[in-house]
Amino acid sequence: MGSRSGHFLVAGVGVAMFLTASIPGRAFAQDGETIFNGTCKACHTIGGGRLVGPDLAGVSTRQSEAWLIAFIQHSQTVIASGDSDAVALAAEYPGISMPDWPLSDDQVRGVLAYIQQQESAGPAPVAAGAASLQPGDPVLGRNLFQGTTRFDNGGPACNSCHDVTHEDVIGGGILAKDLTTVFTRLGGPGVRAIVGSPPFPVMQRAFQSRPLTDQEVGALVAFLEQADAEQSLHQPLDYGLGLLVTGLGSAVILLGLYSLIWRRRRRGPVNRAVFDRQVRST
Ligand code: HEC
Ligand code: HEC
Repeated sequence: MGSRSGHFLVAGVGVAMFLTASIPGRAFAQDGETIFNGTCKACHTIGGGRLVGPDLAGVSTRQSEAWLIAFIQHSQTVIASGDSDAVALAAEYPGISMPDWPLSDDQVRGVLAYIQQQESAGPAPVAAGAASLQPGDPVLGRNLFQGTTRFDNGGPACNSCHDVTHEDVIGGGILAKDLTTVFTRLGGPGVRAIVGSPPFPVMQRAFQSRPLTDQEVGALVAFLEQADAEQSLHQPLDYGLGLLVTGLGSAVILLGLYSLIWRRRRRGPVNRAVFDRQVRST
């Protein structure tokens, strides 16, 4: 009895080993597909055009494998090293820099293999659901953002990690970036793709088992678009006026202070008194 189940176990392990060993290429690209969909797709297409980052179709013909592995694992270090291609890329995408990905060399090779596989399959549609979504309701988006309306699946309110400058929103969290100008920085499709399937580990974990509905994503995107548009209207004026008033105010205060000090110094010069005394004594 015991030895029989033991045999089954050995046989099972053997079959599993045979299966994985016989299709290394496919397992590789499959692994790559999982990584691409979970981590890269929110910002990149393969043949679908620019999203948050560049279209990755043909990337293996543009760069060497070594360069790609280094760049995908720690793009900021490569950019900081002064590599001319990396510097040019960073300049072309000023709104966001690619986060570092803790992937092994082989995992990156798997993603690259998947990208090459997809290239030959023809252009893929832009990130999931991007085209099919209705324009969202910015008021619902605002309420979802600050948690006054709960998400259907119970995910945490966005403002537990993010802040946004908007007249109807009380201050939010500082764990993650302020999203006031995210629409300008990443563009509508990019924001939609990121909110719909977050590529950032912390945010990903928060929504993994409690995904947002399409309606919620649409509403949040509409709200972020509105917040961005409103701040670009108000901000320069408020800022300029505030600066002017503060500047004038402090100038007046400083002038008053200076003249006060100056007057006291002229009226009661210590040195003068000492000098007079000395003149008298001689
Ligand atoms: C949050 C958005 C974002 C995610 C997620 C992301 N990238 Fe990027 N990626 C960028 C941006 C932006 C650039 C342009 C360079 C820069 O500004 O850092 C870039 C550049 C690249 C480049 C260089 C492209 C070229 O034309 O030379 C490669 C390769 C790349 N990313 C691969 C990946 C892979 C693989 C993943 C998933 C593991 C991934 N990226 C995830 C935003 C992202
Ligand atoms: C548990 C914390 C957390 C929650 C909750 C959260 N996020 Fe994020 N979010 C992050 C982190 C971390 C990043 C990575 C970039 C950074 O550090 O800001 C990010 C990035 C983003 C970005 C890309 C910003 C940029 O400029 O690169 C957008 C857009 C975004 N989040 C939207 C949202 C929305 C909308 C919600 C609510 C549905 C939300 N987030 C909820 C943690 C969170």
